[in-house]
Amino acid sequence: MALSDEFLQELKSRNDIVEVISSYVNLQKAGRLYKGRCPFHHEKTPSFCVYPDTQSFYCFGCHVGGEIINFIKKAENLDYIDAVKFLAKRAGIDMPKDNFKNNDNTVRQRRIYEINRETAKFFYHSLMSVNGTSALTYLRKRGLTDKTIRHFGLGYAPNSFKLIDYLRSKGFGEEELIQSNVAYVSRNGHLVSRFFDRVMFPILDLRGNVIAFGGRIMGDGKPKYLNTADTPVFSKSRQLFALNFAKNIQGRELILAEGYMDVISLHQAGFENAVATLGTSLTEQQAGLIHRYADEVIICYDSDDAGRTATERAITILRKTGLKVRVLTIPHAKDPDEFMKSYGDKGPVMFKVILEQSAMDIDYRLDKLRNKYNIATTQGKIDYLTQASEIIATSDNPIERNLYISTLSEKFGIEKSSIEERIAGKLKKAKFQQADREINQRKALTLAENDTINPEKKDNLLGANAEEYIIASLMNNPDMCQYIGSNIKTTDFVTAFNKRVFTFVMSRLTDGKSAELLFFSQEFTEQEIAYITAYVSENSAKHFSKSSLNNCINILKKESEQKIRKKPSEMSDDDVGELFSKYSKSKR
Ligand code: UTP
Ligand code: MN
Repeated sequence: MALSDEFLQELKSRNDIVEVISSYVNLQKAGRLYKGRCPFHHEKTPSFCVYPDTQSFYCFGCHVGGEIINFIKKAENLDYIDAVKFLAKRAGIDMPKDNFKNNDNTVRQRRIYEINRETAKFFYHSLMSVNGTSALTYLRKRGLTDKTIRHFGLGYAPNSFKLIDYLRSKGFGEEELIQSNVAYVSRNGHLVSRFFDRVMFPILDLRGNVIAFGGRIMGDGKPKYLNTADTPVFSKSRQLFALNFAKNIQGRELILAEGYMDVISLHQAGFENAVATLGTSLTEQQAGLIHRYADEVIICYDSDDAGRTATERAITILRKTGLKVRVLTIPHAKDPDEFMKSYGDKGPVMFKVILEQSAMDIDYRLDKLRNKYNIATTQGKIDYLTQASEIIATSDNPIERNLYISTLSEKFGIEKSSIEERIAGKLKKAKFQQADREINQRKALTLAENDTINPEKKDNLLGANAEEYIIASLMNNPDMCQYIGSNIKTTDFVTAFNKRVFTFVMSRLTDGKSAELLFFSQEFTEQEIAYITAYVSENSAKHFSKSSLNNCINILKKESEQKIRKKPSEMSDDDVGELFSKYSKSKR
């Protein structure tokens, strides 16, 4: 990476981590750090920490962490260079003029974006050509205007080899065409298009790159929709159809539909906040993505059994992220697209009406529950109320819970307190479970039972903790470099991972370079950086003192001696090497 240290440091100093992350996460000050709910996984109690002192972040729930560039990479789904550009732009700094080399991965992704864009262009032109007449008629028959077709860049995959010839003429090779999943090698060895004789729906990411396609058969064949498989630029469980448009709307409310056609019909009718999953059921990542752009989501799935089951599932996932959830049940039609069409010109107005009538998720679920039990019988009442309490307990808003409790107690003529008790039990259990999980996560971090980054830690807990303190001290007080360097040697480190970290930090500092986290990406993986961030930041949040440092140095020396005193038969080659270097040192 040919970006200079100076440039990266300026980038960092002009993008304060607390300020940047604040626009993604609601942060609360807690002592020397800030806490909030992690944007990368779903949680009710905050375990996402931002450390202004080290300009770093770490989530104790999902173990993601690092410095500002790592954050932007993840939050904006960018590669390293694009994350740097993003931050440069944010701070109004020019990117350096010299041509920095992209890593292989970036080059490959760029090529796939280009292939996808060319493919989308080709499909669009095919739709508008003589070959595309039947496809165009199909789309128009389904009620789409030419404006909508253009807006979504819809296309037609012809029944021929033309796409492959076209892409080859643009200079793309077989391997990258296969990687991008627009083509595959057929049984008789020819490179052929994945999509044949289908109406094509390009899928765009938030930056407007074409990342995948969905293709619908025009007749009755199977599969009805064929989608791009996951590629280096596409992960179907992490993207949403039409979010590239929906993210620009005013107001923080999104409509979640099931299909491409539903979304397109809704957009055409003026509901440009509609999105859909990409041929799979909703995932936690997608719920998180929705939460970045909305506070409230309206589920608008098909009205059949499958749609109802999917609705229940989606409610749970969306609620967990803290989103407000409503459910829209479509009367007299299979899905929003059919509903819209059945009302013709009045479609948009009618949809607005049912949208406004859509129920809160709890009402929706209570309603469904009502049909399950015969509440004329005592047992039916008990079962209903027991289950209803569980549903109400999913709300973390006491006012909301209270309203439902009042309604139920009136309806069934029973004491509010008895429902309250039941719900309180449920809530407590949920809270305890959450607390338990978090304690366990923290334990996992310190006890290192499942530590894959530093697997030696669990057998050398004392030593590894001392190492971590020493490294943290060094990174936060680079002027201690000489002192530390003359009091502890690389060979005293008992875990190979921390030894690597220490060596890297020391070599940068002795070269007169900065050893901030910012520079670790040259040497360590993302997971390793997150891991290092956690201990550097946590240790810096404690008070640094020279006596603690000396303590750690002594502990580490003792630990490494003990390690060396292992039976020779138990010693690895490394241990033996260390032993000899120790002896030769002590002789001096
Ligand atoms: P639907 O079967 O409900 O189709 O699938 P639809 O969206 O109403 O489409 P039309 O109106 O018949 O054209 C909903 C979504 O599930 C995915 C697609 O994303 C589709 O939009 N799906 C469906 C597939 O990926 N493959 C399939 O074979 C079918
Ligand atoms: Mn449909």
